[in-house]
Amino acid sequence: MPFLSDTLARVKPSPTIAVTTKAAQLKAAGKDVIGLGAGEPDFDTPQNIKDAAKRAIDAGRTKYTAVDGIPELKAAICAKFLRENGLTYTPAQITVGTGGKQTLYNALMATCNPGDEVIIPAPYWVSYPDMVLLAGGTPVPVVAGIDTAFKITPAQLEAAITPKTKWFIFNSPSNPTGAGYTREELRGLCDVLLRHPHVWIMSDDMYEHLVFGDFEFCTPAEIEPALYDRTLTCNGVSKSYAMTGWRIGYAAGPVALIKAMGTIQSQSTSNPCSVSQYAALEALTGPQDFLAENRKVFERRRDLVVSMLNAAKGITCPTPEGAFYVYPDISACIGKVTAGGTLISNDEVFATALLEETGVAVVFGAAFGLSPNFRVSYATADEVLREACSRIQAFCATLT
Ligand SMILES: Cc1ncc(COP(=O)(O)O)c(C=O)c1O
Repeated sequence: MPFLSDTLARVKPSPTIAVTTKAAQLKAAGKDVIGLGAGEPDFDTPQNIKDAAKRAIDAGRTKYTAVDGIPELKAAICAKFLRENGLTYTPAQITVGTGGKQTLYNALMATCNPGDEVIIPAPYWVSYPDMVLLAGGTPVPVVAGIDTAFKITPAQLEAAITPKTKWFIFNSPSNPTGAGYTREELRGLCDVLLRHPHVWIMSDDMYEHLVFGDFEFCTPAEIEPALYDRTLTCNGVSKSYAMTGWRIGYAAGPVALIKAMGTIQSQSTSNPCSVSQYAALEALTGPQDFLAENRKVFERRRDLVVSMLNAAKGITCPTPEGAFYVYPDISACIGKVTAGGTLISNDEVFATALLEETGVAVVFGAAFGLSPNFRVSYATADEVLREACSRIQAFCATLT
């Protein structure tokens, strides 16, 4: 009898974590490494949020809470959805989990049966397909290339829907491309979904506040109220408020689904950390100036990275609307040989050679379902980004 489960055999460890770990090991061994792999803001959590957490500890808020969130936080989340998205939810329609990741996972675990299909636009966040597989469902990637700015078209969505489709996962702005759907583009997808009432929508709005220029964030339940009853609107404080380590995410949707998600959580982790919930309460109800300041810094870094990467030989880097990632195309580098003598046969080889020969760690595109590309997380100081991009330029210049 094998010791490990069949479930485990269906999934693989996160490649983004693998890259971050490898970069950390090289750094520890004394190598000059710049990590552009991790998906987290480099800013510290704002002081008012840290203070709220300290107050919660001092007030003894250190015990179990309601499984899917304290009432005050649920009320603050309802207020956030109304204020920022024009969406009306009651506290019974809200669930709070240990990071956005847990709420998405709970939803899939609570709803996927063998044979159920989940449509996932590619390039995708690495965890979506594996979470669907863990839940027993079948991921159905729909690839959007550089020609459509990494956004799927209504025709592609229509073609991917079958009688077995349970969910359509929507993520805008996207990890890993930063691509954001305009209202018109999302309207087109919503029109398709209206024609298929058996398909549920999981909107992962994690990067809502990280949008640039005059781009306006939008989410399916807001664009098309007729989809409200079959949409799970997911969000969290990790990226917007520089709170990745606090582990608080939340989702809003129909009461029956929210209850089912709570059941999964009650038999796995129980409530998210009590202190973190009070910190998230402050994040959502306290001063919001941090968001605009944050956005400005990321927009400047995006412009820096896009222009420097486009100046590298063989790299084409579109300008994304949001998040803190770019997803350059390296088709012109494939088949070339590096200064160190490595034949670049695919994007994984490119990323490995880049790390070994220049000390810059990026994540290869195959991990996200579209090649040949790589992902840069630009949530790093400007001067570090400048140095990393210079090294990438030098690496590409010597390819023969
Ligand atoms: C698109 C997307 N959704 C969800 C998450 C999970 O966020 P959290 O850290 O709150 O679990 C991430 C984190 O990288 C992400 O990129």
